[in-house]
Amino acid sequence: MTRPSWAPEGIDLERPSASRVYDYFIGGLHNFEIDRALAEQLAAFSPSIPETMRANRELLRRCVRFLAESGIDQFLDIGSGIPTVGNVHEVAHAVDPSARVVYVDIDPVAVAHSGAILDGDPNAAVIHADAAEPAKILADPQVRALIDFDRPVAVLLLGVLHFLAEDADPAGCVAVLREAVAPGSYLAITHATLDGQPAEVLEAQKLSGRTSTEIVLRTHEQISTYFDGWTLLEPGVVHLPLWRPEDPADVGENPWESGAFGGLARKD
Ligand SMILES: C[S@@+](CC[C@H](N)C(=O)[O-])C[C@H]1O[C@@H](n2cnc3c(N)ncnc32)[C@H](O)[C@@H]1O
Repeated sequence: MTRPSWAPEGIDLERPSASRVYDYFIGGLHNFEIDRALAEQLAAFSPSIPETMRANRELLRRCVRFLAESGIDQFLDIGSGIPTVGNVHEVAHAVDPSARVVYVDIDPVAVAHSGAILDGDPNAAVIHADAAEPAKILADPQVRALIDFDRPVAVLLLGVLHFLAEDADPAGCVAVLREAVAPGSYLAITHATLDGQPAEVLEAQKLSGRTSTEIVLRTHEQISTYFDGWTLLEPGVVHLPLWRPEDPADVGENPWESGAFGGLARKD
């Protein structure tokens, strides 16, 4: 197939990618037939997947708006994805146009497209890096240029820690980030789970191995430990629609069917 202009040279067009599958689910346009085919297979095993992805993106918007309205003006968004509507810098800038945002992703399409969208924006940048290497992210010159770690910052790990296998030590990675940020900083996490899900979800999880980033489903207890050393804000680590819904009608009848948990915490 021919490479569209938004896809950087060298990417494997024959292999689906997690960021492009997610982009497809949330209504973006930066995905290939091979991504859409995997997305449809995933949805066949787990019909709630498209809704979970949309619920994740909705939580991102609610969370960033809350943080910006709470006075946070620096955001480090790790596993930021392919930009689509309601990106972190747009939500934050609607509250505070001077807010600074650094996007971090391992996917070349996500990085290239973010770069194109942010071109000329002095308050936002994107870097290509691995969430499993937080020290490198923290030392990156573009991160250092935009984010002052002596002041509170929001670290967003939305929909990304489930791409880190245990040997990548996700808990250790979060701990490195916690050590680096100033008191008053925040940590937001969303993470896929098998809790409350039909067993077929395990088939969907195996299918995700066709991308270069297979998903690891974790329990509520495991996901909650990532907040060790932080003070969790209400309502704690909950199914995505239950995290501070703007309208009770948004919660739906079976929020526990959401295949992911989310939470927000502060460093005191
Ligand atoms: C499900 S999307 C989430 C996007 C966005 N954070 C959101 O919540 O809407 C997950 C993103 O994490 C990225 N990702 C996966 N593994 C990663 C890693 N080890 N380091 C950095 N990014 C990673 C993928 O490329 C993808 O863009």
